[in-house]
Amino acid sequence: MNMRTSAAWAALALCAAAMPARAAEESWVVEARGVSTAVPPKLLAVLQAEIAKSGPEGAIAACQVQAPALARAASEQTGWSVKRVSLRNRNPKAVPDAWERAALEDFDRRAAAHEPAAKLERYEAVQEDGKTVWRYMRALPTGELCLACHGPVEQLSPAVKAKLAALYPEDRATSYRVGDIRGAMTLKKQAP
Ligand code: HEC
Repeated sequence: MNMRTSAAWAALALCAAAMPARAAEESWVVEARGVSTAVPPKLLAVLQAEIAKSGPEGAIAACQVQAPALARAASEQTGWSVKRVSLRNRNPKAVPDAWERAALEDFDRRAAAHEPAAKLERYEAVQEDGKTVWRYMRALPTGELCLACHGPVEQLSPAVKAKLAALYPEDRATSYRVGDIRGAMTLKKQAP
């Protein structure tokens, strides 16, 4: 085989290897993206209703119950494991693993470089214990509404501060500003 044909063969082999993987990737990525965008608006609706009824301090307890419940419901409905994580978490369980930490750090960098925060996502098919696991993450940017409970400490109301101190003694999820990445939805599913 001369140089040119062997190069052509190599290119062909590469394409053949890359193409089916890409096609397979797309359907699960589209699915994960759909799940990740369906959950936050539901939580936002709960938050807004609770804040209107009983102020941000009253909405904290609802968030504590409803956020994990909505994620659990989405997991049951879709077969994806769904939760939220953050580099500076409030829920003690919202600690990112290594893959999630790298994604969150990447989101911070991309947001700082003015990529639209609401569109930041990362996905990858990874190997875990000899099995393929699909992983997907989508950034949750800080908006105005979030500041009542995640903003600079001096801007939190005394009632919010007291409630957070009581429920989350290890809270690290304050001092955010509008546009910062507050955390992310993280999804995971074992490939069939
Ligand atoms: C009424 C107060 C309140 C508001 C407003 C609020 N949050 Fe939270 N947030 C909480 C509480 C309480 C938790 C911990 C929930 C739990 O125990 O799972 C939390 C947790 C989170 C988490 C999970 C990671 C972690 O740190 O535990 C993310 C991500 C998050 N909030 C994003 C947001 C975003 C984005 C907004 C605005 C759209 C927002 N929050 C508005 C109270 C609030």
